Amino acid sequence: MTKKPIIVLGSVNADLMLRCERLPRPGETVHGQDFETVPGGKGANQAVAAARLGGRVEFIGCVGDDAFGAAARATLEREGVVTTHLRALAGVATGIAMILVERSGQNSIALAAGANACLDAAQVDDAAAAIAGAALLVCQLESPLAAVQHAIGIARRHGVPVLLNPAPAQPLPPALLAAVDILVPNESEAVQLSSASLDSAAMASALRSLGPETVVVTLGGEGICIADRRGVRRCAAPRVQPLDTTGAGDTFIGALAVALQDGVDIDEGAAFAQRAAAISVTRAGAMASMPTRAECESQAPR
Ligand code: RIB
Repeated sequence: MTKKPIIVLGSVNADLMLRCERLPRPGETVHGQDFETVPGGKGANQAVAAARLGGRVEFIGCVGDDAFGAAARATLEREGVVTTHLRALAGVATGIAMILVERSGQNSIALAAGANACLDAAQVDDAAAAIAGAALLVCQLESPLAAVQHAIGIARRHGVPVLLNPAPAQPLPPALLAAVDILVPNESEAVQLSSASLDSAAMASALRSLGPETVVVTLGGEGICIADRRGVRRCAAPRVQPLDTTGAGDTFIGALAVALQDGVDIDEGAAFAQRAAAISVTRAGAMASMPTRAECESQAPR
C-alpha cells in the first residue's frame, strides 16, 4: 500500500553562503572563502531531508519566477518532492538567506522573505485535499503565520497530526500551540516560547502544558529533551566534529517526520533524527549535507 505523504508547508530561499574564520562583530569586516549560492529555506530543507531518507513528501510554498526559484524547484523535484503546490509568482523575488559559517561550524543568518511572504490561505485551500490525506503536516515560521495557522486548522479537522518547528521564534497565539501535536524548538526558541530560561527538561514540560502532546527540544551537541505523556527524558547526541551546522535542525525535523510517517515511536524516531543531524553537521551546506537512508542506518547508534 502507498504510504500517505508528509506535507511540508514552508519557505524556499536561495542561500548565499560564505565561510569565514569567525563571524564578524558589528561594524567589522572579515575575509571569507568558498562562496556559493544553493537552494535552502527551512521548509525546502526539511522536505529534502525527509525525501532523501525515503519519505513520500509534498511541498506547499512560494518562489519568485527567477533563476533562484527555478533552481529550488528543480532541486526539490530531483530529490523526489512533489511540487504541485509550489507557486512561482511573477514580479516577486525568491527568498534570500545571507549565511556566514565560521570555522567552529556555527553560523549567522539574515533573511529576506521575498515570495515566502506571499503564501496565503487561498493557496493553502488549493492544497486542502493533500493536507487532509496526509500522514503528517510539517510547518515552520518562515512563512506567514496566517497561512501556517490555516493549514494547521485543515489538518486538525481531518485528524492529521501536526509537527511545528517554531523557527525563527516569534510569539504564537495560544490556539495555534494548542493545535500542534509535536513541537520541536531549539533551545533559544524554547526559551522564547516558554518565556523562561529554565533547564531544558523544565522548558519542555512548560511548553507541553501549552498544548502539544509531545515536545522535543533540540540542544545541538548537547542532545535533545523529550517531554510527552510518559514523562521527560534527555538523550545525548552522537559525538561528531562539526564542520557546518547549517540545516542540522532541518535534517532533524525531516528525519523525525519520516520516522513518524513509518509509524515509529517518538524515542526511536528522535534517535534516528539525531543520527541524521549528526551526519549533516560533519559536511558543508544545508541540503548538500543531508544523509541518505543508507548512510543513516549504517552509522552506529550511540
Ligand atoms: O535552517 C537553515 C535555513 O535557514 C537556511 O537554508 C536558510 O535558508 C534559512 O532559512
